[in-house]
Amino acid sequence: MIGELAPADETSPPRHDGPLLRVERLRKHFELTRGILFTQTLGHIKAVDDVSFAIRAGETLGLVGESGCGKTTTSRMILNLETPTDGEVLLEGQPIHGLQGAALRAFRAKVQAVFQDPWSSLDPRMTVGRTIAESLIVNAWGDRASIAERVRALLMQVGLRPEQAQQYPHEFSGGQRQRVALAAALAPRPQLIVLDEPVSALDVSIRAQMMNLLKDIQAQDNVAYLLVAHDLATVRHMADHTVVMYLGKIVEQAPTAVLFEDVRHPYTKALFSAVLLARPGQQDEEIELAGEVPSPLNLPTGCRFHTRCPHVMPRCSRQEPPLREVSPGHAVACHLFDGD
Ligand SMILES: Nc1ncnc2c1ncn2[C@@H]1O[C@H](COP(=O)(O)OP(=O)(O)O)[C@@H](O)[C@H]1O
Ligand code: SF4
Ligand SMILES: [Mg+2]
Repeated sequence: MIGELAPADETSPPRHDGPLLRVERLRKHFELTRGILFTQTLGHIKAVDDVSFAIRAGETLGLVGESGCGKTTTSRMILNLETPTDGEVLLEGQPIHGLQGAALRAFRAKVQAVFQDPWSSLDPRMTVGRTIAESLIVNAWGDRASIAERVRALLMQVGLRPEQAQQYPHEFSGGQRQRVALAAALAPRPQLIVLDEPVSALDVSIRAQMMNLLKDIQAQDNVAYLLVAHDLATVRHMADHTVVMYLGKIVEQAPTAVLFEDVRHPYTKALFSAVLLARPGQQDEEIELAGEVPSPLNLPTGCRFHTRCPHVMPRCSRQEPPLREVSPGHAVACHLFDGD
């Protein structure tokens, strides 16, 4: 808690009062090449281009935008599965890239992930109990009996039965497999779980159950979430703070309640109206807006949204709009809000 002093002794870790996770000026540029012996560079894809945000302990940050805007690449850098081209990710003030050995194992226990497709994290040849126990075994968490007990408790926490530890992934439904993936992520008591489209592959009817489960677990365990979603409904239900991305850049960010009351950026507005126009049963589709998404290999000059923006002005194609605060915690990158 802010202002509360913990008794200092030589064995306690360095105190950290800032946000749990900070992403600072993060960039990931993929080089696109042709040929094997004589490689030719065709160009660079700026998948993530100067992105900064913070996540506080126990909170949910929602990351939204159309397919291809860089959400997964950002998540993979936060998970330390991808090295940034530039910028930094800091967990409790410590840079995460470059960690090795025991420090990297400790990081992996603190920051876990649940992906859209639970098959990617569940080994079909392993019982789900063994999958959930994996990180506990790697980190020498305890003896066999205490690990088995923790696996049973985790299964119950995600709404499954303890005896299901003996079963294999194919014996579970899609929603149950996502619960197993969540139990595995929770096993090492992480501080942050990256949820990359955790409900997108599930039937609409069971999405609310999964989201409520995630909220209950957050309330019990004080775990923070980075929630990646392409639909605003999921983020509205779950996130304390929302970040909207377009072609590798943040266009708007705000506390979720503020964003839904006072949306400013033309792109965010378009996302909102796309949701409003979506017919029932279409809600699980990727958002589709009018106009073509420009090629990431050949980004528009100035504001990247100018080729599709209904409010485009002459300077929009020349100058890139900076991300500016319009009210406390609410920032927008658009010349309409430059204030000059
Ligand atoms: N390994 C890679 N090599 C080249 N391009 C990539 C790679 N991963 C992602 N990209 C490109 O980076 C952009 C952002 O992708 P991604 O982060 O997956 O977006 P999202 O998750 O928002 O759909 C896309 O244009 C995608 O094609
Ligand atoms: S900067 Fe111009 S083109 Fe970009 S979103 Fe604002 S008004 Fe539209
Ligand atoms: Mg993605």
